[in-house]
Amino acid sequence: MGRTRSGVQFSPLSDDPSTEDVSFIQTEWDSTNAFGAAATQEEGFGDEGELDSHVCIAERAPTPIPNEEIYLTISGPQRTDFSHCGGGSWTGRRDSSKSSRSYTVHELEEMGFTYVPYEPGRNVLFSDSQTRIVGGLVDAPPGEEWTLTKENASVSLQNARKIGAGTGAFLNKDLNHRRGRYFTLLTGVSMGGGQKRPGNLAQRLRARCKLVQSILLNESIKRIAGFQSSAFYFLAPKLYRRYANDLGRLYNSQSELRWNFDGSIYPCVAFNCGPQSITTLHFDQGNLSHGLCAVMPLGNFDWKKGGHLVLWELKLVLEFPPGTVALLPSAAVRHCNTPIQKGEERMSITQFAAGGLFRWVAYGMKSAKELGSMKASDGRTVKEKADKGAEERWMEGLSLFSTTTSLEQDYRTDQLPPTSLV
Ligand SMILES: [Fe+2]
Repeated sequence: MGRTRSGVQFSPLSDDPSTEDVSFIQTEWDSTNAFGAAATQEEGFGDEGELDSHVCIAERAPTPIPNEEIYLTISGPQRTDFSHCGGGSWTGRRDSSKSSRSYTVHELEEMGFTYVPYEPGRNVLFSDSQTRIVGGLVDAPPGEEWTLTKENASVSLQNARKIGAGTGAFLNKDLNHRRGRYFTLLTGVSMGGGQKRPGNLAQRLRARCKLVQSILLNESIKRIAGFQSSAFYFLAPKLYRRYANDLGRLYNSQSELRWNFDGSIYPCVAFNCGPQSITTLHFDQGNLSHGLCAVMPLGNFDWKKGGHLVLWELKLVLEFPPGTVALLPSAAVRHCNTPIQKGEERMSITQFAAGGLFRWVAYGMKSAKELGSMKASDGRTVKEKADKGAEERWMEGLSLFSTTTSLEQDYRTDQLPPTSLV
């Protein structure tokens, strides 16, 4: 695979999702109103060396979606309260409800959720009330080779957990955090929490740094990361190009920033090492407000009985087997998993992008604080142009989602998305 240091890299990816059988789940959730106030990032940052800066993007577009579309209508939509919006917000909704309660499939169905069974070879796209594709579940590539890939990746995360517990890289208190009770390793480029500029996430312990490096070098993990990125392109080519454009500019402006993977557009990854990586209901408030994060479960559990993906505002509960990829608007839609059985193991890999990175680029590679210290009118002009009104920015973000009728055309275009955010 060739490389360029000058900007966006175009590269064929080997695991393009199959588009032979696509179903649509149409909900009445109105994404027009799903918007949240700015949030803070919780992790620290630091410099850990250099790698080539480049951005990968799928060159080979998936084949057009078929004509036979299946629509399911979800009843009882929840409309989020627009009064929580903050002007100039780039990140997700701040979540004040700190509930650690889990939900069973039965409870969710009683609450009106629609159950979406997994069917091998079928990709599910879910659209909002305006037919915007706001996420989906992409099936794993067929064949024995992918089975080995997910098994190897599972072992890598299992080993990280065992070694981490043995070396002190993981402590018992690390089991308990905002998203659930499991060990997790976070690495990549992020921005938030009062950080002056984007940076590589620092591991607080050297032992953790070694664990992260060993996982990043694992070929199965690399392949999964590339597949997640391809799935993102498959579902949201315009939004993907926005990531490629903005993040390409960011990485080119700071040579110390490192990509986690050659084949992924995402700047950050969480390796959720289990033993039971089951999340409680949450927003990912630091992520780009209209972004899509990619999640793949791994491990050995009965996915008919547990580990389902719950999308609260969409009122969906989906079977979510190991090796498949879910793309979800994690900053705008609350999500969680149903519990798995005692003794079972579930790990997962989640790739995402912090909203603060895109805000930094839109502010001309500056923070809001720096803009504030500039000559008053200059700084204010840049900020107002980038922030716009809360509703206007949100609608602009939504315009980057494809609709069920535009998706085919959206693959074909060569053009980057509108540059009004940059
Ligand atoms: Fe999440």
